[in-house]
Amino acid sequence: MDPTPSPANYSQLDRVLLDEVRIRRRVAEMGRQITAEYEGQALTVVTILQGGAVFMADLIREIHLPMKLESISVASYHGGTESSGTVTFLQSELPDIDGRDVILLDDILDSGRTLAAIRHRFETEKKPASVRVCVFLEKNIPRAAEVVADYRGFLIEDLFVVGYGLDYQGEHRNLPVVGTLRPELIEK
Ligand code: IMP
Ligand code: MG
Repeated sequence: MDPTPSPANYSQLDRVLLDEVRIRRRVAEMGRQITAEYEGQALTVVTILQGGAVFMADLIREIHLPMKLESISVASYHGGTESSGTVTFLQSELPDIDGRDVILLDDILDSGRTLAAIRHRFETEKKPASVRVCVFLEKNIPRAAEVVADYRGFLIEDLFVVGYGLDYQGEHRNLPVVGTLRPELIEK
């Protein structure tokens, strides 16, 4: 394998914030912490699609416990770089989490509206034993909705980032690093 890969889609990045080595190390640490804290519990990881998919795939392989995996699809962005403020559930059924110790997993905690809306539905329409929030990234901004990340990979500045599951207009999720896009690629 080429030791210095430079895939074509890297050229769309302005700046790399998190490289693969840092990401892998941090995700392994998070897995160790979750493994230690959920021993003997009925763990279900619920991933928010699409953004949480890459983080989920790496994190759950660092959790060395019996667990179940569920997902939920929502849309909160509508193409741009600003959250729309409304969260649309793309499926009517919630996962079966009654009696389970849930970790709700997402790529990024930004305004907090997405996680707040899902958490609210879980707690009012289902009977989970517990619900905690785990995000790969957290933006260092005041939250519009009250959500605290129980587990957080990295705290970042208020920048629009892509890669490792995060998209701009549906693309760049497959980048193994996290970075900012070249400004000329972002529609005004
Ligand atoms: P919130 O509801 O404002 O917290 O937004 C959460 C969702 O917005 C995340 O699940 C992401 O899909 C998306 N999002 C927020 N910030 C970014 C970003 O910097 N890049 C890409 N997507 C983002
Ligand atoms: Mg998204």
